[in-house]
Amino acid sequence: MPTIPLTFPFAGNLFLNRFGYGAMRLTGPGIWGPPPDPDAAIAVLREALALGINHIDTSDFYGPHTVNQFIRRALHPYPKHLIIVTKVGNRRAPDRSWPKALSKDELTFAIHDNLQNFGLETLDVVNLRVGAREDPLQESIAEPFGVLAGLQSQGRIRHLGLSNITPAQLTEAQSIAPVVCVQNHYNLAHRADDAFLKACAAQGIAFVPYFPLGGFTPLQSSTLDECARKIGATPMQTALAWLLQRAPNILLIPGTSSLQHLRENVTAVSLHLPPAIVEELNQIGNP
Ligand SMILES: NC(=O)c1ccc[n+]([C@@H]2O[C@H](COP(=O)([O-])OP(=O)(O)OC[C@H]3O[C@@H](n4cnc5c(N)ncnc54)[C@H](OP(=O)(O)O)[C@@H]3O)[C@@H](O)[C@H]2O)c1
Repeated sequence: MPTIPLTFPFAGNLFLNRFGYGAMRLTGPGIWGPPPDPDAAIAVLREALALGINHIDTSDFYGPHTVNQFIRRALHPYPKHLIIVTKVGNRRAPDRSWPKALSKDELTFAIHDNLQNFGLETLDVVNLRVGAREDPLQESIAEPFGVLAGLQSQGRIRHLGLSNITPAQLTEAQSIAPVVCVQNHYNLAHRADDAFLKACAAQGIAFVPYFPLGGFTPLQSSTLDECARKIGATPMQTALAWLLQRAPNILLIPGTSSLQHLRENVTAVSLHLPPAIVEELNQIGNP
């Protein structure tokens, strides 16, 4: 039986557990304001680390600021092995929309805000979020990525990543500075990036699918339900195990505000999907 490697060489000698945690859910409705139960949010963050997770994905525009401040409250001083990945490129307007924020001033301000909210001198990983979810911008990203590369050379950022991008934009960014991860929309039912995922694997770049469980409405599929039943797992565990088996460079960041869901989801690392089940699951997202 093939085993799923549980770590991935993320950058240089830095290995990450392939099962991380996406913290966006630790807010009020609409990813705005504090979570309804602050103690529960703190408990989820601490339990993630207790379960062996060493990769948390977040952004200062969740809340805004709230999620990063909760991460600090729950986990500071941070354990040495913890990698916090944040993202910049948007801001939150008072009407709760997510306008682009890609100018030099906005990016510099965002990095300083992140540092302050985390209580850090240097950010582990910063993703430049470029396009909208279903509409990656086709334009050059040299200018905003160059701003982040400048902040990296000033010691404010260790590693750079990209989110909502095209393969051409990855190539363009790599001519400016190394890219350690790509974070695009991808899951069992949404596979527009199949080829891009493979291209990242070939280069040893981590591919971090966001909405791994389907996003705001978790995946609904009778095939998924049936496959899960056959292997004695839940549909969400099955969807996560499918991603882990899909490619060795996939790192998971499922989001949850629930301790029970967190504990349920993390067991996907020990779930093996037989080839016949993988084949059935593949049909869900086939064009
Ligand atoms: N780069 C980008 O543009 C971008 C965009 C979106 C998200 N992200 C990142 O990706 C991470 C993951 O995305 P996401 O949280 O939006 O979506 P997701 O992981 O696909 O799904 C989260 C949803 O699934 C529910 N859920 C989780 N475990 C469950 C379980 N075992 N059973 C039933 N429901 C379950 C959660 O509700 P409960 O809280 O009730 O568990 C929540 O509603 C985010 O935290 C964020 O860091 C990035």
